[in-house]
Amino acid sequence: MRGVILAGGKGTRLFPLTKITNKHLLPVYDAPMIYYPIQTLVNAGIRDILIVAGGNYAGDFLQLLGNGRQFGLTSLNYTYQEGDGGIADALALAEHFADGDKICVILGDNIIELGIDAAVSEFHKQESGARILLKEVHDPERFGVAEVRGGHVVNIQEKPKLPRSNYAVTGIYMYDASVFAKIRTLDPSSRGELEITDVNNAYIQEGSLRFSYLDGWWTDAGTFDSLLRASSLVSQSKHKDA
Ligand code: G1P
Repeated sequence: MRGVILAGGKGTRLFPLTKITNKHLLPVYDAPMIYYPIQTLVNAGIRDILIVAGGNYAGDFLQLLGNGRQFGLTSLNYTYQEGDGGIADALALAEHFADGDKICVILGDNIIELGIDAAVSEFHKQESGARILLKEVHDPERFGVAEVRGGHVVNIQEKPKLPRSNYAVTGIYMYDASVFAKIRTLDPSSRGELEITDVNNAYIQEGSLRFSYLDGWWTDAGTFDSLLRASSLVSQSKHKDA
């Protein structure tokens, strides 16, 4: 399976930090943010990765990561998302890289404590469709929220004012090759973006979306509070392990 890291967007919620660097290059404790999703994919056995960069200072990814040898990657590829078309618009750029294979997609600001191996091997067994990872949170209105009934996700709402559950859809998604055809059918949401939640709802409609619960802590790092939280969670984990 190939890996795709979505690192687009202008990082406006982190202004002025993102005025002078790309959001995904900001420090999270002792490493640039982008190191964490790369390591998550590597730990799950994925060695071919595409980074979809965007916004300002995208050239710095190449300077920082080079050919990915330091992470043990077989190949590290780059492309660039123009504009603010959203997560699904960024993912559309991965079609050629995926080349008909299944892909594991991770948002460049999603940081986890443990691994995703179990979900990845479940997805290997899945003939087709998609698999998402859910995490119980206390502030679901900040995320895509999954309604689970009878062991299935029946609906996902993007940042609902009145969430139907406490289960956030994390920014780690596994898709079969039909994801690109699904993206082509999407219309922009009210915020003018192609939403990954609409992609996942298309799989639900088709009856082919499965899910796993994510073990260990999970955080995004796209706001001042979550960026700070990410650094302290990583620091606590490192001190625990030491
Ligand atoms: C995005 C997705 C959302 C998901 C979140 C995870 O939100 O739209 O469904 O729960 O990532 O980090 P964003 O943070 O880009 O607004």
